[in-house]
Amino acid sequence: MTARTHPHPAPLTTVPQGFQEELEAHARWFHQHPEPSYREFVTTERIRQILTDRGIEILDTGLQTGLVARIRGEADATVPGEGHVVAVRGDIDALPIVEQTGLPYASLNDGYLHGCGHDYNLTTALGAALLLADRRKAFSGTVKVIFQPAEEVAATEETPTGAVTVLSTGALDDVETFYGVHDTNAAEPGVFVINPGPDSGAVDKFRITLHGRGTHAAHPNGGVNPIRTLAALVDGIQSIAGQDVDPTHPRVVTVTHVESGTAWNVISPTAFLEGTARTAFPEDRVIIHDRFQALVDGLAVAYGTTADFEWEYGSPSVVNDAHWSTFATSTAKDLGLTVVSQGQASLGGEDFSYYLQQAPGTFIHIGVGNGDRPMHGPTFFPKLDALAEGANLLATTAQRTLAELGGN
Ligand code: NI
Repeated sequence: MTARTHPHPAPLTTVPQGFQEELEAHARWFHQHPEPSYREFVTTERIRQILTDRGIEILDTGLQTGLVARIRGEADATVPGEGHVVAVRGDIDALPIVEQTGLPYASLNDGYLHGCGHDYNLTTALGAALLLADRRKAFSGTVKVIFQPAEEVAATEETPTGAVTVLSTGALDDVETFYGVHDTNAAEPGVFVINPGPDSGAVDKFRITLHGRGTHAAHPNGGVNPIRTLAALVDGIQSIAGQDVDPTHPRVVTVTHVESGTAWNVISPTAFLEGTARTAFPEDRVIIHDRFQALVDGLAVAYGTTADFEWEYGSPSVVNDAHWSTFATSTAKDLGLTVVSQGQASLGGEDFSYYLQQAPGTFIHIGVGNGDRPMHGPTFFPKLDALAEGANLLATTAQRTLAELGGN
């Protein structure tokens, strides 16, 4: 052995013969069996079967759907308990979309499609679990592999998003670093995208009901027209995003639904608007909320209306940790993979953010091509070429993270 000063002492790893084909077969099966949020029963059973067939332990979490697998390293018998703990997460739910991909392995569940590629994500996480189980003797510490339900759910207080449900089991309380995986059609297979810093948008909803006083359209002075307040508000909130937030930060305020009135000659007593505010930096959420509230209060008074203002904080933005992003990037490069940073957050939502509120980590996007097939659309499917590479990247990054955490 020649001496070398490599920052990551864990040896470079390869995948077994036939591993890519094995994962492709799994991905096709999961593509054929898409299930909606919190109803991923068949999917969960299949994952459980594949893992237990390979001697991988599944934690008793009480989850109805989804599961957490645990792989304990056996390199050093003197490590007490679980040692350091790293988690890897893939999501497993599908969308209510009628498939139009033309694939020979199209959905067998009418009206449902893995339109966001969670079939791909879960297969990558599954591959990482299988590799880590094979490599037990090569690392110390514990990797928990999360197969998360209900990433796509429209979260309410009674039905939280899947990440919140999994975290609430306590099974991840000891996790020190989290890695998430998601396919992207903005890159071709073979390209991996890791963005240090903000990576997705916080998803906040607003809903405003304005109360005026109904009257005849020809005599508006006899009442209070709430549409006047509504119009001023729709315009005014754009200036919050434009003027009150750091211009270099991604953010958008979008009104998606307005309603008022019943006839051309009647002034309605009420008006309604709702929409969403998306922000990449946590501090901007507060700025936009507070200015929004002030504008609603001020305009309501100015135009003689009253307003009910509801603001619902949804999932926060994914903010990738600088250290672990660099760490995953250098691991990918050591494996000979191509890694890019898009350098800017997308303002879509992603509930992986809840894990990163507990412990730092990073979200890894894997290119799956098909850029002409929009994600969440009926024609989308991921190209499967990089499944083994992605699984190896996740497994190797987790192994090296344990070494880094343990300082051995
Ligand atoms: Ni998704």
